[in-house]
Amino acid sequence: MEAAARQELAAILKLTREYLGALTEDGVTRVDVSLEAAARLGAKSKPAAANRGQSVSATSLRPSARQPAVTPLPSRAAPRPTAPPPGAARPGVPAPSLPEPAAPGDPAVVGLRRIASVVARCAKCPLHKERMRTVPGQGNSHPEILFVGEGPGADEDRQGVPFVGEAGQLLTKMIEAMGLTRDDVFLTNIVKCRPPANRTPAPDEIAACLPYLHEQVALLQPKVIVALGAVASQGLLGVDTRIGELRGQWRQFGAIDVMPTYHPAHLLRLQAAKHEAWADLQSVLKRLGRTAPPRREARA
Ligand code: URA
Ligand code: SF4
Repeated sequence: MEAAARQELAAILKLTREYLGALTEDGVTRVDVSLEAAARLGAKSKPAAANRGQSVSATSLRPSARQPAVTPLPSRAAPRPTAPPPGAARPGVPAPSLPEPAAPGDPAVVGLRRIASVVARCAKCPLHKERMRTVPGQGNSHPEILFVGEGPGADEDRQGVPFVGEAGQLLTKMIEAMGLTRDDVFLTNIVKCRPPANRTPAPDEIAACLPYLHEQVALLQPKVIVALGAVASQGLLGVDTRIGELRGQWRQFGAIDVMPTYHPAHLLRLQAAKHEAWADLQSVLKRLGRTAPPRREARA
């Protein structure tokens, strides 16, 4: 190949890499590549060259209506850092699932993915040092209910998904008892990284992480926030009232109604508190104009 053609190809590949990096940072996980363009690239360059150092590889791209073909090279492709700082989610581990957009380019999904990608590189507080995975949140991008917990535990830290351990399984059952599924609601935590040995997150760690929750709330616009436990309730509401006093009483987070209730981990330890938690969730359903389906035991 002539030197000029080689140089031109190198420039095109560089811009393509930068563009894919920028799309990844914006939360885009798929782009269209026309077969013709892929064949041209495949024929004219060594296969590894196009992908090196990128988190989006040509092999993971599949057709999507969401984004235009990569072929028109963008003017906005300024170089961005692609290497995560120490402690960021491990390379090669796939990002936890976020909902498919309700509509192409749904701003809530794009925004949530952007937050997830910023959180994955976040080192704003000491919790970044020992995390395995960040746990930004999961669920419906237009939920009626947003559940906010305290912070990821060991299972969540391993999987990058909130509420998948024992307490999470109880929460899932409670959501289902409300006549909903995890896909109907959004689940997140007041801190997005696991506190070592599941200790309570410190006030400065909560303060560092809260802006992400504020952004998520602004994008999700839930009708109700359920704050699970003292840490989530106090962090959201900016009070230090005991959870026993807070629970069951409607509060406000900006314009959004907040129902503080017990954390499912507390309910695992203290069965008796389940009645109160269920009463709190029924208040939530009532506010949404919903009713819980009859319980299976009651029907049997
Ligand atoms: N407990 C929480 O508060 N959040 C989780 O994601 C899991 C357990
Ligand atoms: Fe950043 Fe929040 Fe993780 Fe702290 S807990 S490192 S603020 S994402």
